[in-house]
Amino acid sequence: MSVTIKSEREIELMREAGRILAKTHEELGRALAPGMSTWDIDRLGEEIIRSYGCIPSFKNYNGYPASICVSVNSEVVHGIPNRKRILKEGDIVSLDAGVIYKGYHSDAARTYGIGRISPEAEKLIEVTRQCFFEGIKYARAGNHLNDISSHIQAYAERFGYGVVRDLVGHGIGSHLHEDPEVPNYARRLRGIRLREGMTLAVEPMINAGKPDVCWLDDDWTVVTQDGSLSAHYENTILICENGPEILSLPAEGSESN
Ligand code: MF3
Ligand code: CO
Repeated sequence: MSVTIKSEREIELMREAGRILAKTHEELGRALAPGMSTWDIDRLGEEIIRSYGCIPSFKNYNGYPASICVSVNSEVVHGIPNRKRILKEGDIVSLDAGVIYKGYHSDAARTYGIGRISPEAEKLIEVTRQCFFEGIKYARAGNHLNDISSHIQAYAERFGYGVVRDLVGHGIGSHLHEDPEVPNYARRLRGIRLREGMTLAVEPMINAGKPDVCWLDDDWTVVTQDGSLSAHYENTILICENGPEILSLPAEGSESN
């Protein structure tokens, strides 16, 4: 599949998908509390997504069994919700969610602290979020994909963090995963030239320790090899002439994040 340019109609549907996903994340973020299970988060997330008339895109995607990926502490991404996994004060939890609105996808992730968390965890979450914003400063027509990737990596490594290599961001639209791949690290080639109307999911996954990850026996959950904490932050963006439009953040003026 090659990289597609979205029509104005498609972009409008992706804007609506993104608005709904932004609200879903806000509501989930507000609901998080010690004592909640990762299963509870998934149930609530799916309920919210469906209440807006959307379909949770992760459910049954390649056999993934839930609507929200819930990844705790050293889990990087794709954690499977579980009734017995109870959040406690001091944990960090990454929530990754995807919605389909009238055939169009939006994909976004946030990492939150549960109650009071360590300053180290706080910093990892903030730097990971900032990695996204540092990268998308270069997300405009005429630049190359690698401009985004290399700036995400450079920012994370300034803090001694490990940039996950084994998973990447992606194009998005009428499918959850479209071309191109959007790495969070510099590749030798500069990658495709960005054009107006491309839509990308940019998603830095950053480890407090080394970049290496491995898969648990459930074949989904990705964890850091060294057991260090990991954070994830993702939005769906639209490439425009002068910069990106972030589709999965709340509109200016409403609550942020
Ligand atoms: N944001 C993740 C990704 O882009 C979500 C996919 S998880 C899955 O890969 F459960 F849907 F597979
Ligand atoms: Co994604």
